[in-house]
Amino acid sequence: MDALKAKDYTIHFNNAAYVALQDYIENTCFSKIFIVMDALTQTHCYPIFKEKFKTSKSLNFLNIGMGENAKDIETCVSLWQQLCDLEADRNSLIVNLGGGVVTDLGGFVASTLKRGISFINIPTTLLGMVDASIGGKTGINLGALKNQVGCFSNPKMIIIDTDYLKTLDPREMRSGMAEIIKYGLSYDAKLYETILKNPTENNAFLTEAIYRSAAIKNNVVLEDPNEQNLRKVLNFGHSLGHAIESYFLKTADKPNLTHGEAIAVGMVTAVNLSCHYCDFNLAIADSIKEFIISYFGKVTISKADYPAIIDLLKHDKKAESGIVKFVLIEQIGKYQLNCNVSEATLIEALNYYSA
Ligand SMILES: NC(=O)c1ccc[n+]([C@@H]2O[C@H](COP(=O)([O-])OP(=O)(O)OC[C@H]3O[C@@H](n4cnc5c(N)ncnc54)[C@H](O)[C@@H]3O)[C@@H](O)[C@H]2O)c1
Ligand SMILES: [Zn+2]
Repeated sequence: MDALKAKDYTIHFNNAAYVALQDYIENTCFSKIFIVMDALTQTHCYPIFKEKFKTSKSLNFLNIGMGENAKDIETCVSLWQQLCDLEADRNSLIVNLGGGVVTDLGGFVASTLKRGISFINIPTTLLGMVDASIGGKTGINLGALKNQVGCFSNPKMIIIDTDYLKTLDPREMRSGMAEIIKYGLSYDAKLYETILKNPTENNAFLTEAIYRSAAIKNNVVLEDPNEQNLRKVLNFGHSLGHAIESYFLKTADKPNLTHGEAIAVGMVTAVNLSCHYCDFNLAIADSIKEFIISYFGKVTISKADYPAIIDLLKHDKKAESGIVKFVLIEQIGKYQLNCNVSEATLIEALNYYSA
C-alpha cells in the first residue's frame, strides 16, 4: 500500500511504516521521545510497537486515563507537568499510541507545550485510523461540551498498522465501521458496495476499506483544511447523530451508545431527509436502513425523546444561529452540503428510523 501524502506529512501503512519511522527518528535529533498511551493501549499495543520499532534512543512513557473522561484539561495539566519535570524541550517528540482520545489530547498537549513540539500519531482504533488521527484537529472537552478547546496542528507522520486492531473490542470495531459507511454513503459509492459484500469484516476487505477511508479523509482535508466547505461532508449523519449520542449519555434510563451507534441512527435519518430534499430513491433508502440496523442493532428512541434531541441539535457546535445545515445525498456517494431541514421533516425522519 502506497503511503498517502498529506499537506506537510505522510500517512504510512502497516510494516513499511516502521521503516519510515525508524528513518525519521534516526535522522532527526530529538532530545527526548515520549510515548502517550492509555492503560489498554499500553497492554495491547505497546508490545506490538516495541516488536516492530527498534531504536537506540531511550523512550519515556506517559499514561493517561481511559476513554472520553480523560480528554480534559486536568489530563493536559498532568502531561504538561510531567513533560516539564522530565525536561522536555522544543526538540522533543511525542508519539501518540492510542485511539482518538490519545491522538486528540496528545496532539493538543504537544501543540501547546513550549508553543508547539513535534508529534506523531499511531492510531490503534478503527475510528482513529480512518478519522480521528487524520486532518490536524487536536483538542479536549470542556466539561460536557465535546472538543470545545483545541487547535489545528498536523503531526509529523501518521502510522496506520491494522495489527493493532486484533485486540479491539468488537463494539469499538463497529463504531469505526460507522465512519467507513459514512465515507461510502456520502462520498464513494464503490466503497459502500464493497462494505455490503463484506458483512463479516474479513481482513483483506478491512485493510482496503481503511486505506480508502484514510485516503478520502486526507483528500477532503487537503482540499478544505479549515472546514470552509467540503470538509463538512465528513459530518454526514453526525448532526442528529451527535444530538442522540449526547442525549443518551445524559439521560439516566438510556443505554450508553458508542459514537458509531449514534452516527448509524444519524445516517438512517439523513438518508430519509435526503428523500425529502434531494430526490434520493426511497427503495434504496429502505435498503440502507435495513443494512445499518442489521449491522448496529436498533436503538430505541420514543416520541417523548424527540424534543430534547432536537433541542440538542440546535446547540450543535456546528450550528449557525441555532440552525443546523445538514449534509444530505442525491445518490449513494453524491453529497449535497448546507441543506436546510425543517423540524417537521426531522420528526418524520426519526419516525422513519423507528418504524
Ligand atoms: N480529531 C478528529 O478529527 C476526530 C475525529 C473523530 C473523532 N475524534 C475523537 O476521537 C475520540 C474517540 O476515539 P476512539 O473511538 O478511538 O475512542 P478511544 O480513544 O476512547 O478508544 C476506545 C477504547 O478502545 C481502547 N483501545 C484503543 N486501542 C485499542 C486496541 N488496539 N486494543 C484494545 N483496546 C484499545 C481504548 O483504551 C478505549 O478504551 C473522541 O474523543 C472524538 O471526539 C476526533
Ligand atoms: Zn464520527
